[in-house]
Amino acid sequence: MQVITTKDELRALLSEWRGVGERIALVPTMGNLHAGHDSLVEIGRRHADRVVVSVFVNPVQFGEGEDFENYPRTLEGDKGRLREAGADLLFVPEVDTMYPFGLEQATVVAVPYLKDKLCGSFRPGHFDGVTTVVARLFGLVQPDVAVFGQKDYQQQLIIRRMVADLNLPVEIVVAPTVREKDGLALSSRNAYLSDDQRAVAPAIYKTLLAIGEKLQNGQRNYDELEREATAGLADLGFRPDYVALRCAGDLSDPDADCDEIVVLAAAHLGDARLIDNISVAI
Ligand code: PAF
Repeated sequence: MQVITTKDELRALLSEWRGVGERIALVPTMGNLHAGHDSLVEIGRRHADRVVVSVFVNPVQFGEGEDFENYPRTLEGDKGRLREAGADLLFVPEVDTMYPFGLEQATVVAVPYLKDKLCGSFRPGHFDGVTTVVARLFGLVQPDVAVFGQKDYQQQLIIRRMVADLNLPVEIVVAPTVREKDGLALSSRNAYLSDDQRAVAPAIYKTLLAIGEKLQNGQRNYDELEREATAGLADLGFRPDYVALRCAGDLSDPDADCDEIVVLAAAHLGDARLIDNISVAI
């Protein structure tokens, strides 16, 4: 696996690969990699001849008071993990490589409407930061395929919308959430949990599953399901941002035409903000 930091090195390698007709997959990450990322690489490999992984802690997707400074940076460990996972190239750009005109003057890519819902309403500007950096990575790597995790449900939906709306020539593949044995979705932010908090954290997934079961049993009072679940998480010591039942295709409130509901939750536990979701056919 090659590790590079500059656009020139990136372009040279990519053109070599493209020159012999190889397909390229991109797995964008912020590092501190775990088994969830391994699965993104593995899925990338199934869709392409070469897998490029980027590690970039993107300053513009963090709000004021969020964890940009403390976000775990573990590049040496990440390199070992990616070699094992079979990545071909690790791209680790500096901030001024990604934002050559500076952060203030950076061109912003934004997906209105979807970006303001759910996590977007609690983290203003977050999804603009995500689409802005992902569009740049797509421009640099020009991948045939890019792989994102289902845990970040709203993120993958927004990226798919951006790609469709801008006619970007990249296929978006969404990888199933990888979980610990007790159901907790893998996340770099799980590292912020104390042992006691870690023991409570799987309650988010259990809460989602309980809602899923109620939906399967015909419950359709979505407001009540949201209220009960939010209160239940608060009782366990979480500070929930939301538990929400939405139509899976566009995060709208489910109506009679909606045949798949996504149940999403975001809640703080200690210093960690945890998110998770499940989809339920109805
Ligand atoms: O999901 C992430 O880790 C980030 O939001 C992404 C897609 C790498 C953009 O910085």
